[in-house]
Amino acid sequence: MIDQGTLQQILDAAEIADVVGDFVTLKRRGTSLIGLCPFHNEKTPSFNVSQAKGIYKCFGCGKGGSSVNFIMEHEHLSYADALRWLANKYNIQIREKEENPEDIKERNDRESQLIVSEFAQKFFSEQLWETNSGRLIGLSYLRQRGMRDEIIKKFGIGYCPEGKDTMTSAAIKEGFKMEYLEKTGLTIKREDWVRDRFAGRMMFPIHGISGRVIGFGGRTLTQDKTIAKYLNSPESDIYHKSRVLYGIFQAKRSIIKEDKCYLVEGYTDVTSLHQSGIENVVASSGTSLTIDQIRLIRRFTNNVTIIYDGDQAGIKASMRGIDMVLEEGINVKVLPLPEGEDPDSFSRSMSATQLGEYIRANETDFIKFKTKLLLAGVENDPISRAKLITDIVSSIAVIPAEIVRSEYLKECSRLLDVREAVLYNEIRKLKVKSEDELIKHQERELIREANVKAPVLAVPLPEINPCENEERELLKLLLKYGSHQIFEVENPETNLTEPVYVAGFVLSELEADQMVSVNPVIKAVFDEYQEYVEVKNFDAIKHFVNHPDLAVSQLVSDILSEKNKLSDFWRKRGSYIEEEHEILYQLVPKVLQEYKLRYITFLISQAEQGIRKAYENHDDEAIQDFQRRYQKLKTVEGLLCGHLGRRTITS
Ligand code: CTP
Ligand code: MN
Repeated sequence: MIDQGTLQQILDAAEIADVVGDFVTLKRRGTSLIGLCPFHNEKTPSFNVSQAKGIYKCFGCGKGGSSVNFIMEHEHLSYADALRWLANKYNIQIREKEENPEDIKERNDRESQLIVSEFAQKFFSEQLWETNSGRLIGLSYLRQRGMRDEIIKKFGIGYCPEGKDTMTSAAIKEGFKMEYLEKTGLTIKREDWVRDRFAGRMMFPIHGISGRVIGFGGRTLTQDKTIAKYLNSPESDIYHKSRVLYGIFQAKRSIIKEDKCYLVEGYTDVTSLHQSGIENVVASSGTSLTIDQIRLIRRFTNNVTIIYDGDQAGIKASMRGIDMVLEEGINVKVLPLPEGEDPDSFSRSMSATQLGEYIRANETDFIKFKTKLLLAGVENDPISRAKLITDIVSSIAVIPAEIVRSEYLKECSRLLDVREAVLYNEIRKLKVKSEDELIKHQERELIREANVKAPVLAVPLPEINPCENEERELLKLLLKYGSHQIFEVENPETNLTEPVYVAGFVLSELEADQMVSVNPVIKAVFDEYQEYVEVKNFDAIKHFVNHPDLAVSQLVSDILSEKNKLSDFWRKRGSYIEEEHEILYQLVPKVLQEYKLRYITFLISQAEQGIRKAYENHDDEAIQDFQRRYQKLKTVEGLLCGHLGRRTITS
């Protein structure tokens, strides 16, 4: 318990505008300050702060209260923990009123995870700067990459020593509980052994928006391609990767000041740009950009410039990002980099001044970027040109503001040499669709407000899903046996055998092959499952059956109550039927292969169609492309059939 005196001290210090200002950009209007509400999605500010009354109030969603309420709501803390949070912010020493062991035990789980993460960050830093091995291995690696000391310190980068459990035992010795080391993923614990998840890696702490450490990205120092370059903290109570942007804490002031945010892909892209004097930069860190991440940026600015790697993958990722960002009403620019460069390498190859000049000269608005990219090679082909126009117009159509939309249409008309009227006509064609989108959008908001994760309710189902049966079968296995062990593998880093669980196995296979269901509800379940892969004893059935999204709970109940189709077939071995769970090691890979085969068969038929179309259009290049693709798919099909022990003829 916090004593009365401390309480008063905290309440006096926690000036409302200062507390809220850490999270919301506030502008003065009359006697109050206004900004975009952090609790619901809005594009025009209805969030008010009254300094005189010491309260905030949102006229959009109705939330309101004091500084403490704000922190409770925003950081999902209890009253007492919100006070601790504020005490920490204002460096107020808390006098505890007779804190007995019971109280200590009661301390919030989340807070404990934050504290152990903070300990780990300090530990990794100390290792880097103050131990021989840290300096020799870690620090020299960073310096060799051209990273200056002040940047290493600014980002709190550290080093986790080699060895089995150096960090874990240090933490335990300091009195931290294994429970929280495990929950944050810093330590991996099995029945008879524990080890540091990040042993031998450079540690990039990931800070939440208020500056507390919530997770880590660990970079390997070896060149070995079989070892993941980065290992990241798993999802936990404090770390939700889809809602986090690396660097946001270090960037937020600069983003507000410059009214602009650069978006890059990686940790080192962020640190290198800081080193070149560009501080308004954040990274999506390896995941493709999410709506939550975009909204996080939008609290601070409406202007985003995407700088992704100058390779095909980078360009593809930029394109994917563009429509999402546009849809949120943000102005998007793209900064193309020379092939083979990423922001990290590129910014280090020149002076800060040169970099600034390059940015000014090459920043392109998205219309030009997309047009140039798509136009290359199709100038004289009317069909491809028509497709290109539709494509660009559909990007423009998602922009919420009318004025911005019409400006872009003008530019598009100029660039493509098409009359504006034609473009407006295209937009009209899209309108029916976008009205659906609007409804979808509104429903999404409603669901979001009801605190629902995966908003899939209003997505129209595709007419056919060629893999519906296989996907359902696979989902059923995931739901029923996701946390069952399926086999063991040897970890090349540790030489230890590690169990592989059904869910981890299936989902990583799907990800590796980039298989995505065309059924949005099925896709949503797979996606959401991914977030729980590392959660021990995750009760998938309970979770999804009680899912607040009706479409999800319906689908899952459906799947669980239907008769087995594929698995029955594989279950019958010899003269008796074995229990499913006894032969998961056979069943799961088989069902997975069935699915892949069906998927490939579908892709093959698409490629065949493509070839036919290309012939009709006398498009030699496309014919060749499709044929190459067709050949590749056929090879894969052959391989899969080999595994399944059947002939192609029967498919
Ligand atoms: N990433 C990841 N897991 C991997 C590889 C990458 O999470 N196995 C994420 C990291 O956040 C990484 C980003 O994706 O920073 C971009 O990946 P990449 O370009 O490969 O790494 P760089 O950031 O360029 O790192 P480095 O410069 O150290 O090679
Ligand atoms: Mn990179």
